Amino acid sequence: MTAEVYHVPVMPKEVLNYWLSDPDGIYVDGTLGAGGHSKMLLESLSAQARLFGIDQDDEALMEASKNIGDDNRFTPVKGNFGYIETLLGNEFKEKVDGILLDLGVSSHQIDDAGRGFSFQNDGLLDMRMGNLQGLKSTEVVNDYSYQKLRSILWQYGEEKQSGRIANAIIDARPLTTTLELRKAIEKVVPSRFLVKSLARVFQAIRIEVNRELEVLKQGLEQGTRMLKPGGHFVVLSYHSLEDRLVKNYFRSGNFEGKIEKDFYGENIRPLEPLSNKVITATEEEISRNSRSRSAKLRVALKKEVIL
Ligand SMILES: C[S@@+](CC[C@H](N)C(=O)[O-])C[C@H]1O[C@@H](n2cnc3c(N)ncnc32)[C@H](O)[C@@H]1O
Repeated sequence: MTAEVYHVPVMPKEVLNYWLSDPDGIYVDGTLGAGGHSKMLLESLSAQARLFGIDQDDEALMEASKNIGDDNRFTPVKGNFGYIETLLGNEFKEKVDGILLDLGVSSHQIDDAGRGFSFQNDGLLDMRMGNLQGLKSTEVVNDYSYQKLRSILWQYGEEKQSGRIANAIIDARPLTTTLELRKAIEKVVPSRFLVKSLARVFQAIRIEVNRELEVLKQGLEQGTRMLKPGGHFVVLSYHSLEDRLVKNYFRSGNFEGKIEKDFYGENIRPLEPLSNKVITATEEEISRNSRSRSAKLRVALKKEVIL
């Protein structure tokens, strides 16, 4: 029997290269997962350095602690990175050298049928990344109005058949399992488009349940305030809605991407992108770790405030 691989870190070398600036510094992993990226960072840090690893999932925190082992530089923190300022407190404001967000769910969360993330496994409709929030996917599919359901499938899944699928879900109510949801979708989507539609619908519901875009915006704004001037913000995202928010925020300091200039023609923004182009995984990595195929890495540096 082969042991299950909990999660393989994506673009490990590239992430470490940008995340690490000062070996004695203070770092935050906002999406600890199995601690793969964190463990690599710790191997490059000095004995004085500190690393806070945030995750909202108890299982991930346990797995990471097991993977990292006893290390007094490392502090696991249960919580949502959207509240990073509250989680770390004023003591660390403007003191953090680097923040990593490796967005979305881990391979383990997807593979665990009981979490209800996958249309390939049958499980109860849940999709919560942790037990901190109340909403589950069962409420989204069973209680939302046609308008609301169609709108999340359209906005968060960019699903062209959102109206037909919303109707099919409503017709199939009550739904309790991911297989029932899949069957409802199968009734209205031609088989050649099915896998992509299933992926988009499951993605849309997951984003709604975990308020992923709202939380990402909060995390980017609060994380930027926690960084010290010169500190690095590193974000790995896996779909275009997230990547657009990160790209706009890094370039312009707002989520619409509106660039404002000061009197001297300099861009007014708290961060400076460290790479103009998005960074993607190499073919070699994609062949080893299919999850890296959709990954987009963006990095930015906190600017000095000149008064
Ligand atoms: C892609 S995995 C991270 C994998 C990790 N980089 C590694 O190398 O093992 C994402 C993790 O972030 C957590 N997560 C996602 N969004 C979160 C949020 N808003 N707050 C806290 N944890 C979050 C998930 O529970 C999951 O464990």
